[in-house]
Amino acid sequence: MSGDRKPVRVWCDGCYDMVHFGHANSLRQAKALGDVLVVGIHSDEEIAKHKGPPVFTEQERYKMIRGIKWVDEVVEAVPYVTTLETLDKYSCDFCVHGDDITTTADGVDTYHLVKSAKRYKEVERTRGVSTTDIVGRMLLLTREHFKRGQEEYSVGKGHSSSLGLDPSATVPFTACSQFLPTSRKIIQFSEGKEPNPGDKVVYVAGAFDLFHVGHLDFLEAAKKEGDFLIVGLHTDPTVNRYKGHNYPIMNLHERVLSVLACKYVNEVVIGAPYAVTQELLSHFNVDVVCHGKTPISADVDGSDPYALPKSTGIFKSISSGNKMTTEKIVDRIIQHR
Ligand code: CTP
Ligand code: C5P
Repeated sequence: MSGDRKPVRVWCDGCYDMVHFGHANSLRQAKALGDVLVVGIHSDEEIAKHKGPPVFTEQERYKMIRGIKWVDEVVEAVPYVTTLETLDKYSCDFCVHGDDITTTADGVDTYHLVKSAKRYKEVERTRGVSTTDIVGRMLLLTREHFKRGQEEYSVGKGHSSSLGLDPSATVPFTACSQFLPTSRKIIQFSEGKEPNPGDKVVYVAGAFDLFHVGHLDFLEAAKKEGDFLIVGLHTDPTVNRYKGHNYPIMNLHERVLSVLACKYVNEVVIGAPYAVTQELLSHFNVDVVCHGKTPISADVDGSDPYALPKSTGIFKSISSGNKMTTEKIVDRIIQHR
């Protein structure tokens, strides 16, 4: 920001239920239109009134948006229709929304007031991802189980070894994604910085599928263990090997963007090896390797993927204090339906 110029304050609002990288990308674009990004989030009650109850509670939704690196301030429980009074109350110059129409229960454009006052700007909606699409992927997951003659809606651990190999299969783990990842998108989401000399480097690895509040709390705790946090993301076939069924629900590129949008993350390894290797530790000058309190699945040969950092005393088990899991989200969607 130059000299004495008054900082431009940008306003965004929404439900931000099941936050995905499309939401993050809209916030990234909004932030680029000004200096300070203020995000208003609707309460559970307000959303229920206009489009039915959200899947995630307001406390979870507020936390997820606070975790996105382009967000400076969050305003809780804002009204569904954006008013000039709201913009003025938070000293925002204009409001930004994606190029899709949002209406109230009565069919009124929620942005008609800010649009007519010319305090409205549009950003391009990210194609290929939406809450509806993600819910659809989860429901396909459950239908597949039903077809296999298991109890309907079970999300137990089973594994189809032909998954991803059968060209006639309708739901290989990445085929349901309509998102087209590009190198430009990754650059836009990246921090592009190296660790400073003397920085303590923390490494964590996982699936980070359907990036959720449990992941966010875990990454916050992991970041506190050092100065520079690197997150290794396993490939889709690797995640599928230990999770089974049609997991992961989000493919590797989508998971990369969700993790990069998190304010605690400095770097992502795209397709990290399942077991922590010496090459990886040396390459990134890793000082400490962390994992949460969730169970660690064995590697293909039955070994512990964290055997190496454990043997050299740089492994640390940390608590996110959060019991959310990807499986619980799938359960919630099914209940919600
Ligand atoms: N958004 C976007 N790209 C997407 C999905 C959402 O740019 N793929 C933007 C919306 O345009 C809006 C903001 O994210 O500016 C938050 O909107 P919200 O009300 O939470 O989302 P929805 O539009 O309902 O998104 P979804 O359909 O994914 O629930
Ligand atoms: O299950 P997944 O591989 O996505 O988990 C990534 C990391 O997040 C793991 O270290 C896991 O223990 C941690 N985590 C956590 N609390 C949760 C969910 C995941 O600490 N509720």
